[in-house]
Amino acid sequence: MSAASEPEVYSAGFGHEFESFFPESGSVDLADTSTNITETTVAELRQIAARYPQPRSALLPMLHLVQSVDGRVSPAGIEACAAVLDITTAQVSGVATFYTMYKRRPAGRHHVGVCTTALCAVMGGDHLLEAVEHKLGIHEGQTTADGQFSLERLECNAACDFAPVMMVNWEFMDTMTPSSAEELLDDLAAGRPVASTRGAELIGWREAERVLAGFPDGRADEGPAAGPASLLGLDIANERGWRAPAAPDDSPSQTKQEAK
Ligand code: FES
Repeated sequence: MSAASEPEVYSAGFGHEFESFFPESGSVDLADTSTNITETTVAELRQIAARYPQPRSALLPMLHLVQSVDGRVSPAGIEACAAVLDITTAQVSGVATFYTMYKRRPAGRHHVGVCTTALCAVMGGDHLLEAVEHKLGIHEGQTTADGQFSLERLECNAACDFAPVMMVNWEFMDTMTPSSAEELLDDLAAGRPVASTRGAELIGWREAERVLAGFPDGRADEGPAAGPASLLGLDIANERGWRAPAAPDDSPSQTKQEAK
């Protein structure tokens, strides 16, 4: 067996050991024990848990709150979530390392994503990613040394009608080009106000994470819910008087209703 395929054994005070054959795959950085979590954070974690009939259902927004405080899923955040929900740290880690919106290393003040899935790739997504990497001087999965920007390659954002698409702090930046991306990054670096192409003014990544945790900032209605490209088919159908066909008489729901 080559050295590269030797498993690494992790154990860092959680009482759980596990082997990884992919040591670079992005496990939670247990060596970085820094944290900003306070009693207030724990109280807010409990507040989130109390919103659900099954407290464990609250884990996803709780992890967003951890990210809003620590800029990543921190070991202290994992322990706090586990304590509040009375589950193990391994169970929390399993969730935190499954979803790509949870960051195991510190994200930047602005977290930038570039979609390179099929349609965005056809429309220039890979060139866009290269331009952003060049502009920021980092590769996907990295954060700039000054902590201002982090970058990731995104899978389809369900915004293919605006390809190629970027996201900044989870807000859409539609129909981007390398030059519009560079201009956007210059504005963000200079601290100038920047709006998503759909209208909402961008806030920092941590502030956006707090909103995802369920603490609204009162700005949910900024910008339209859907842009013209997404609504084009509906507009055409309305113009031509097209309607979806009625459900067949023998549809399961109809049969069920008739049986009552
Ligand atoms: S392929 Fe990029 S948003 Fe769908």
